[in-house]
Amino acid sequence: MSNVIPLSCKLFIVVIAIKLCTSAAHNVVDFGARGDGKTDSTSSFLKAWNAACNSDVPTASMVVPNGTFLVKSVTFTGPCKSDIKLLIHGTLIAPNNYRFLGSNESWIMFYSVSRLSIVGGTLNAKGSSLWSCKSVGNHCPFGARSLSFQSCNKVLVSGLKSFNSQRVHISINGCSNMILQRMKIIAPSRSPNTDGIHIGSSRNITITNSNIGTGDDCISIGQGSMKMRIDRIVCGPGHGISIGSLGSSAIENGVDGVIVTNSIFTQTQNGVRVKSWPKASDGYAKNLVFKNLTMRNVANPIIIDQDYCPTKSCTNSKNSGVKVSQVRFEQIKGTSLTQKAITLRCSSTNPCQGIELKDIDLTYVNHNFKKPTLSDCENARGFCTGFVYPKNCL
Ligand SMILES: *[C@@H]1O[C@H](CO)[C@@H](O)[C@H](O)[C@H]1NC(C)=O
Ligand SMILES: *[C@@H]1O[C@H](CO)[C@@H](O)[C@H](O)[C@H]1NC(C)=O
Ligand SMILES: *[C@@H]1O[C@H](CO)[C@@H](O)[C@H](O)[C@H]1NC(C)=O
Ligand SMILES: *[C@@H]1O[C@H](CO)[C@@H](O)[C@H](O)[C@H]1NC(C)=O
Repeated sequence: MSNVIPLSCKLFIVVIAIKLCTSAAHNVVDFGARGDGKTDSTSSFLKAWNAACNSDVPTASMVVPNGTFLVKSVTFTGPCKSDIKLLIHGTLIAPNNYRFLGSNESWIMFYSVSRLSIVGGTLNAKGSSLWSCKSVGNHCPFGARSLSFQSCNKVLVSGLKSFNSQRVHISINGCSNMILQRMKIIAPSRSPNTDGIHIGSSRNITITNSNIGTGDDCISIGQGSMKMRIDRIVCGPGHGISIGSLGSSAIENGVDGVIVTNSIFTQTQNGVRVKSWPKASDGYAKNLVFKNLTMRNVANPIIIDQDYCPTKSCTNSKNSGVKVSQVRFEQIKGTSLTQKAITLRCSSTNPCQGIELKDIDLTYVNHNFKKPTLSDCENARGFCTGFVYPKNCL
């Protein structure tokens, strides 16, 4: 009887054996980490990373189990021998004293890593004491970004939560072929410079199905970025989704190809925005599409601002060198918190070209008192199609 093992069972056993041999899980607890919220687990995390990164199997995994792990500033460096899967069940917290991270550029950094996926996880940088320091303004450190990717390729981030970063929550620089999905990024509306995701000098990055509410831009895209896709984002509070600030230096790379679709903005300062400094620059922003967006009480639902100068220190007013062209705003509906629902304030030396407004319906409602919305254009060239309200000023 016992020697009659069905073929399907034999196959199953073989498959399990292959799986065991081809994936090695490196649990941070086995390297000394403790999920008690107190023990400094930084070096254990690094040891687990190094073990996974040097592993010869096709996919090596690093596991952070349930619990709260205290981690200081750390860099996980590649390239690794295998694909890496980082599975995080628990929460990573920063030290209570903001000075531990405050002078570092980043809290958790991935440097030069390819074929990485990060699944799950919660990051809590405990930024509020640094923000308080900044609001009083006596010799506070700049603050660390919570999660940085520098020179990475083929990265998936799925289901990550990030709370109360000292500064930018997630920073992507010099990377390509990344997908970030199902994320939740939260900081209070008054927390300074806590952008949700900032991308620069990168290519083919997709951000989708995520909820972002912070004290600065939900997503900002800086110079040297190409082929960006932003889809199904719920943004607010915050400053909206921005291309820029561009043109801060005379020589910089442009932004080419950004598509923002199917997103909702609630009580944000801006909806979709392109901003550049009023300075000489060879920068540009082209091939931008903003489509199927809902605005709920957004102060500036549609805005191109080429006279962006929050420090009020600019002398060269209205002369941004950044060339803005081929920008389509389509199917954008909802309510504006100000009457000026569309602002296209382009450079006088480099007027915007190829601006298209299509199927726009933005109304102004304040205390049940309805006034018309307005649009304001300076140096903007382009055309409208379909229904466009407020009335076209192109
Ligand atoms: C982690 O804890 C949560 C509840 O805190 C529980 O729902 C979950 O099943 C646990 N996961 C693991 C892998 O132990
Ligand atoms: C930043 O982090 C590194 C470890 O990655 C640490 O050695 C250093 O002391 C930290 N602080 C500063 C100010 O760089
Ligand atoms: C963009 O990145 C995704 C995710 O890594 C990848 O699947 C896709 O092939 C890339 N597209 C191009 C054109 O490289
Ligand atoms: C428009 O976006 C909303 C989310 O804001 C989504 O539910 C809807 O399916 C989208 N419509 C189209 C035609 O894609």
